[in-house]
Amino acid sequence: MTLTLISIGLTDHNDMSQRALQAAQECDTLYAELYTMILDTDAQRLTEALGKHVQELPRGRLEEDSPTLIKEAQHTNIGILVGGDALTATTHISLLLEAAKKGVKTRVIHGSSILTAVAETGLSPYKFGRTVTLPLPGKAPPDTVLTTLRENREHGLHTLILLDLDTANQKAHTINSAIRILLDADQPETYNGDTLTVGVARLGWKNQEIKADSAGNFAGHDFGDPPHALIVPGRLHFHETEALKTLADCPDEALEGHKPVGELDRLIEKYSEGCRRVIRELDPKDLPRPVTLEDVKALTGHAANYLDDGEYYQTERKATALASVSYAEGILDALRLLGLVEFEW
Ligand SMILES: C[S@@+](CC[C@H](N)C(=O)[O-])C[C@H]1O[C@@H](n2cnc3c(N)ncnc32)[C@H](O)[C@@H]1O
Repeated sequence: MTLTLISIGLTDHNDMSQRALQAAQECDTLYAELYTMILDTDAQRLTEALGKHVQELPRGRLEEDSPTLIKEAQHTNIGILVGGDALTATTHISLLLEAAKKGVKTRVIHGSSILTAVAETGLSPYKFGRTVTLPLPGKAPPDTVLTTLRENREHGLHTLILLDLDTANQKAHTINSAIRILLDADQPETYNGDTLTVGVARLGWKNQEIKADSAGNFAGHDFGDPPHALIVPGRLHFHETEALKTLADCPDEALEGHKPVGELDRLIEKYSEGCRRVIRELDPKDLPRPVTLEDVKALTGHAANYLDDGEYYQTERKATALASVSYAEGILDALRLLGLVEFEW
C-alpha cells in the first residue's frame, strides 16, 4: 500500500497535473492538508472536482498524528492533497521519513509553488537566499526574519518572506501589516522606509497582484485578500531592474535608492571611500632622501590597486574585498606614520 503526497499547486484542482489527478483517483482515501496555505478552493470543492470524497485534516494532524495515518497506509492506499508543492516550505518530509521507516511505500507528486512562482516578479530564482516566515503577532518576535534578511542582503541575495496564517481563525498577515512590523522592529540598517520591497498577492490566481516600491510608499496600497508574501531584493542585475519596472510597476526613485546594506558591504564601501579621498587629496611633504615623490606615488598606486580589487571582489568574495581595502588603508596609514604624507581619517 502507498502513502502519496499530492501537490495541488497555487490555486485549486485546475493547478493539479495530470499525474496528480491520476494519483488522486488511485487512492482509497483522500485527505487534504489545507492549513499551511490559502487556496482558491476547499475540501468540498475538491470533492466535487475530483469526484471523490476529500476529508480535510485538522490543523497539526500531519505533524502530531502521523502514526495513525501511517498505520492506515499499511493496509490501504491513502493520498494527502497539499497546497502548493507538497514538500515546499512545510515539514511534510518527516511524514515520508516515518512512513519509509515503517516500511510503507511513499510517493510524491510535485507541483507549482510560491517558491518558484515569485520568479514572475522578474527576480532571478537562482539569487534567493534563505526563505523565512514572519510569525503572526504574539507568536514570536520578528528577529529571525530580520537576521535572515540582513544575512541574505550581505550576500546580495533576495529574501522571500512568507507570511504566517491561521486558517482556523481566518487570520493572515497582509503585505502592509508585515511591512509595518518590519519597520516597527526599528533596525533601520536592515529594513527602513526606503528599502525596496516587492509585494505579491494571490500569485497564480486570476486576480493576482505584483507591486514593487520603497517600503514607506506601500502604506495606502490595498493588495486585497491573502495569500500575500514579500520579497526584499538583494543586488539587482539590470534585467531584474527592468522587470521590476515593467512587471511590478516599480517607480524609478525606489530603484535609484536601492542598495544592498550588508555590514561587510558597508565596511568595504566606508574604507574604500575613505582611502580614495585620501589618495585624491594627498599632499606629500618635502621628502627625506632616499624616499622620493615617485616612491610615495608608487605606494599610493598600490593602494589604489587594492581598492580596485576590493570593488572587483565585493559581489562574490566579500572577505577578500574587505582584506583588499584594508591593505589599501594600511599602506596609506604607513605613509602617514612615516611622516611622508599628512591626512586625517
Ligand atoms: C507555508 S507557505 C506554503 C508553501 C506551499 N507549500 C508552496 O509550495 O507554495 C504558505 C505561505 O506562502 C505564501 N503564499 C502561498 N501562496 C501564495 C500566493 N499564491 N501568492 C502569494 N503568497 C503566497 C503566503 O505567505 C503563505 O502564508
